[in-house]
Amino acid sequence: MADRYDVVVIGAGPGGYEAAIRAAQLGLSTACIDDWTRAGGKPAPGGTCTNVGCIPSKALLQSSENYEEVGHAFGEHGISVSGLAMDVAKMLARKEKVVAQNNDGILYLFKKNKVAFFHGKGAFAGKDGDAWKIAVTGANAAGITGTHVIVATGSKPRPLPGVAIDNVRVLDNEGALAIPKVPKNLGVVGAGVIGLEMGSVWRRLGAEVTILEALPSFLPIADETVAKEAAKVFAKQGLKIELGVKIGSVEKKKTVKVQYTAPDSASKTLECDKLIVSIGRVPNTEGLNAAAVGLKLDQRGFIEVDEDCRTNLPNVWAIGDVVRGPMLAHKAEEEGVAVAERIVGQKPHVDFNTVPSVIYTTPEIAWVGKTEQQLKAEGVEYRAGSFPFAANARARALGDTTGLVKFLAHAKTDEILGVHIIGPFAGELIAEAVVAMEFRGSAEDIGIICHAHPSLSEAMKDAALAVDKRALNI
Ligand code: FAD
Ligand code: NAI
Repeated sequence: MADRYDVVVIGAGPGGYEAAIRAAQLGLSTACIDDWTRAGGKPAPGGTCTNVGCIPSKALLQSSENYEEVGHAFGEHGISVSGLAMDVAKMLARKEKVVAQNNDGILYLFKKNKVAFFHGKGAFAGKDGDAWKIAVTGANAAGITGTHVIVATGSKPRPLPGVAIDNVRVLDNEGALAIPKVPKNLGVVGAGVIGLEMGSVWRRLGAEVTILEALPSFLPIADETVAKEAAKVFAKQGLKIELGVKIGSVEKKKTVKVQYTAPDSASKTLECDKLIVSIGRVPNTEGLNAAAVGLKLDQRGFIEVDEDCRTNLPNVWAIGDVVRGPMLAHKAEEEGVAVAERIVGQKPHVDFNTVPSVIYTTPEIAWVGKTEQQLKAEGVEYRAGSFPFAANARARALGDTTGLVKFLAHAKTDEILGVHIIGPFAGELIAEAVVAMEFRGSAEDIGIICHAHPSLSEAMKDAALAVDKRALNI
């Protein structure tokens, strides 16, 4: 393998591997270093997302959703099932297979695009003229140089002070994705995205799930209407969510005992077989040798970058979870591709206002743009239009009528400012809103576009029409 590259990418998560592929496509000699290792010592590129994040969580969400559907929803279709059982080991093995397919897919893409892959840890080791020296330790130990370096080292779970993760009783996301037997009682600290998704998986499989959340309101990052609807639906499903709590001690014996203070100051104890701690993630700059080369971090430990992902060091860029902005795989990917294009002098633009968010619970929750509470706080004049899935013919045929679509548009120009969905396939439906917003479309644009009938996408059309009080199906 050569030891001089135009671009060296540190980290092969969704940000890093897509940056490397795009750089190679643009004719730059490119190396990518990643230290994730699977059983047997083989490399496992794909980062948090592929190994212990997006992909395995969606695999388990699908398995548990299938189980719940068969057990609870098939009856009304006239389908009776007896002897329903869940083989957790098989479910976990399938998840591992899906992960491995993705790891192998990335290795294949590297080969196809002539990206040199180094399995090991990369660290800054000074300069060689204008180029950066990068030391690789591990399976492919090497000393390489890069004219440009893209740091894409991702994030790791935020620890709860005084609580050690052992991934046997007290679990982070990695342990939450690998519980070998359905726990009778599952505790979760943090009612954010991981808490809701992983709580849903294990509840569907039969666990009693209690989620303890520090904030007094539920899902404040989502639009209020959607958050309210979600709280109602999750409570009906049996997810117990306690808001406004303060975690005290966590005692690990045969079970885990979590002492916490409720909003009324009462001291309470939650006893559970397993406890998931999902209270956010922190940037990962460990082992990069950042301080030695003067790579600037901000107060919270993120690598400081401008809006084009330039760091304070010449030709050193940083993208994804290790920099400011939402910790989402597709945000990391957009930044990675844009940096590769900037390196060859192109002028790409990443529009953070149109980065969609999706929570893969049932019902799914998805949004893009501003929430109603943000528009109010910013004093923007807006009009809102909503449409419930209960009035959508396809949703009724599916037997999945929970939730609604809500459009927020500028009061004068009708430009779409935000779209919020809770309901079936919300994560797919939101793409239409992202496209419309990228083209600065109006609510009327969506309202007068032909949507297939019967389809869930008609709820998008009707909600857009509702902005002008002219929804047709309600
Ligand atoms: P990462 O994916 O974290 O990758 C960084 C890589 O760099 C890792 O492989 C790491 O080992 C490696 N690395 C670090 N330091 C070094 C070094 N010095 N040398 C070599 N290699 C190094 N986001 C979504 O958009 N959709 C989802 O559905 C979703 N689900 C999630 C579910 C869970 C349970 C979790 C935890 C996260 C989820 N996320 C999801 C978030 C998503 O995983 C991250 O936003 C995304 O992985 C960030 O990508 P990245 O490339 O910045 O970093
Ligand atoms: P999160 O930021 O979504 O939620 C953390 C929750 O924990 C918040 O509600 C917070 O108020 C609460 N919290 C913080 N400290 C607490 C404490 N001491 N006690 C009780 N509650 C406390 O973070 P989460 O769920 O850990 O996920 C990490 C990141 O991974 C998120 O930023 C998210 O973007 C990403 N992710 C994305 C997914 C998706 O796109 N579908 C799925 C899962 C994760």
